[in-house]
Amino acid sequence: MARCARVPLREAESARRRAMSEGVLDHRFKIGVAGGWALIPISGPLEGLEEAEADLEPRERRPTDYREIASVPEGLRPLLPSSHDVVGDIAVMRVPEPLIPHRREIGEALMRASPSLRAVMMDGGVKGELRIRDLELIAGSGPSETIHREHGLRMAVDPSKVYFNPRLAGERMRVASLVRDGETVIDMFAGAAPFGLVICRHARPSMVYSIDLNPDAGAFAERSAEMNRIDNLTVISGDAAEAMGGLPMADRIIMNLPQSADGFLPLALSRLRPGGTAHMHKVLERSALEAYSERLREEMAALGLGMRVSLATELKTYSPTMSVYVFDVARE
Ligand SMILES: C[S@@+](CC[C@H](N)C(=O)[O-])C[C@H]1O[C@@H](n2cnc3c(N)ncnc32)[C@H](O)[C@@H]1O
Repeated sequence: MARCARVPLREAESARRRAMSEGVLDHRFKIGVAGGWALIPISGPLEGLEEAEADLEPRERRPTDYREIASVPEGLRPLLPSSHDVVGDIAVMRVPEPLIPHRREIGEALMRASPSLRAVMMDGGVKGELRIRDLELIAGSGPSETIHREHGLRMAVDPSKVYFNPRLAGERMRVASLVRDGETVIDMFAGAAPFGLVICRHARPSMVYSIDLNPDAGAFAERSAEMNRIDNLTVISGDAAEAMGGLPMADRIIMNLPQSADGFLPLALSRLRPGGTAHMHKVLERSALEAYSERLREEMAALGLGMRVSLATELKTYSPTMSVYVFDVARE
């Protein structure tokens, strides 16, 4: 039996709201109706309202954590991943080796706990020069292509065809907030152009050049620009090392290629106007961070390129000892 407030039907909604605002609505049960009365489940008194006991229908409780309902052997339960990425309506999840035989049960549980998901894909890691993710559908249905929403934009993306990292949303907005009116921006390793799209939507650059080797990335970037009515994003499919020569000098260059971006830094600095900034992503041993900026400055000085690191921030953990950092490198 459930404790409830008994009110005339026409007062049901106001009583429910009052119970909510006073923190006494009992969410375990549904509101009942009996003979012209509404029965509002409560966990404490609502002054002035008549109380009763009633056999109310329990509310089906949807688990918020898929780990509560994943059907895997008890001994493996502690290995269930505590996080995953969501790209559009697809969850992308790394599954530890011992749980791989149970991947479908894990995917099904995640779908049940998160009804907005259309599919769950198991992440086999990114590979090759194009940084493409190896994905396997483990629950749900449909293609891996989706529309991801970020900072008021709709981004067309297929994480099995083009690198995309939803966790960089904050970094994209940080960079956009630095862009001054009329800037020329080059994104050397742009993927599906999430940086360029956020910059064009939230700042007023004269042009963002979005370069990527992967032709699929270019196609998604074009589609997103069209969908969001953005007309100052120029998409270039090809090698940044070749494409840069044909572009105007830049005020800002984005270099999100954490394994090898520093190899492109001399080129980027040579294409930056004095006072311009390169946002260079780099994966490093955490212990090497302090010495790295100074080493970079010396190496560039030897090439006749003046620079200083104005900011070095950790973006994400890469391994137990390594992290991905972003270095804001100012051209002097
Ligand atoms: C880590 S991903 C970054 C994608 C994008 N910036 C993002 O945040 O989603 C690196 C991208 O660089 C591209 N790439 C690798 N080498 C390149 C090169 N030499 N010139 C242009 N793009 C390159 C890959 O295809 C890949 O899409």
